[in-house]
Amino acid sequence: MKVLVVGGGGREHALCWAIAGSPLCDHLYCAPGNAGIAKTAKCVPISADDLDGLINFAKDQAIDFVIVGPEAALVAGLADRLKNAGIKVFGPSAAAARLEGSKAYMKDMLARSGVPTAAYGRFTDSQVAKDYISKQGAPIVVKTDGLAAGKGVILCNTVEEAHAAVDTMMADKAFGDAGNEIVVEEFLDGEEASFFALVDGTTALPLVSAQDHKAVGDGDTGPNTGGMGAYSPAPVMTEALEAEVMKTIIAPSVKAMADAGAPYAGVLYAGLMITDSGAKILEYNVRFGDPECQVLMMRLKSDLLPALIAAADGQLANFDLRWHDDAALVVVMAANGYPGSYEKGSEIKGLGAASALDEVVIFHAGTKADGDKVLASGGRVLGVTAMGATVTEAQSKAYTAVKEVDWPGGFCRRDIGWRAIAREKSE
Ligand code: AMP
Ligand code: GLY
Repeated sequence: MKVLVVGGGGREHALCWAIAGSPLCDHLYCAPGNAGIAKTAKCVPISADDLDGLINFAKDQAIDFVIVGPEAALVAGLADRLKNAGIKVFGPSAAAARLEGSKAYMKDMLARSGVPTAAYGRFTDSQVAKDYISKQGAPIVVKTDGLAAGKGVILCNTVEEAHAAVDTMMADKAFGDAGNEIVVEEFLDGEEASFFALVDGTTALPLVSAQDHKAVGDGDTGPNTGGMGAYSPAPVMTEALEAEVMKTIIAPSVKAMADAGAPYAGVLYAGLMITDSGAKILEYNVRFGDPECQVLMMRLKSDLLPALIAAADGQLANFDLRWHDDAALVVVMAANGYPGSYEKGSEIKGLGAASALDEVVIFHAGTKADGDKVLASGGRVLGVTAMGATVTEAQSKAYTAVKEVDWPGGFCRRDIGWRAIAREKSE
């Protein structure tokens, strides 16, 4: 098969790394890819949001199967257009991708199907939103309806803060059109976990759990980022809890989407809050998490490609995947200054020594080759990933590898996995 992966971050490097080893894959392309991906796939300089360019390339090269990494292309309808062109694709239609593209749409679907989630209201009028907030009281959460690169969520400790958040989104348009409509929801207390399932329109096949660290600083402090590290499994997700999530959250959502005429096919990424009264869903994403995908791919024993094809073909019912019992942990190395402004172009050395370590893989997120040199070209730049019998062991291996990376232009958090490691210590 000729396979094309769309995207150029750490998630796509992990997907290419997993797929390159599949006996089904003869030719692997990635658009646009990065310096790390170029070692396993042929990178083509087409950006993930250039839908015309991607369709033309897939037709010209007679690509058999396309795997779409990032959400924006899915929300914009890339999967529909590939299908119309007769090309098989892993990733939901634009109609189903509204689960991530519109929080109001997602919340209405959850409410309709009785899935446990935070109580909410949706608003296009700022005064009505403020009145609702005053009535509910704080703490309370204000979110843009549309995509805002993970930044359109404001947790508010007071009613005044929440009123200000409404103005930031609706009057100041800080998130552009994403804030034309907003969702205001109940603040949920608990521990967060990410849970993933492959879905083929009707059947959902659970993958494994992971936990990421969104805040830039140690101790989960400072501004939010795309994710500074992750590990799998998430100890908070026991087998019983996974079964509960499949039954009360994933299955009714999949059914609701099919009933609404927008059957969901692709990977469903559930952002969960594990509260005292059980698992509740905070949000759906219509793609693999980044950097969660990196740890998932490290733990996957089975061939990924046939599973993704089965999801695209509606054939997941009798499918099974096998996983390593070992834990995996990824430490993200980011350019100094991220998630604020940062410089591009600094050289990264020591990657050979770091990746030569046992059970370590360095996934590239934002790199560019310059001859033999590897240069930083993004905010999140590397995902230093390791496996171990426990999260503690995986963490120790990952940080040993981080020490080998010689890159004064970058930094990382020093405590990825702290919650799981504290649990392991107390056991
Ligand atoms: P989201 O993009 O909706 O997942 O929100 C980003 C982050 O905000 C989540 O990972 C949570 O840490 C936090 N968050 C979102 N919604 C809530 C909520 N209703 N209660 C508490 N925290 C929330
Ligand atoms: N790691 C969070 C995300 O992919 O949205």
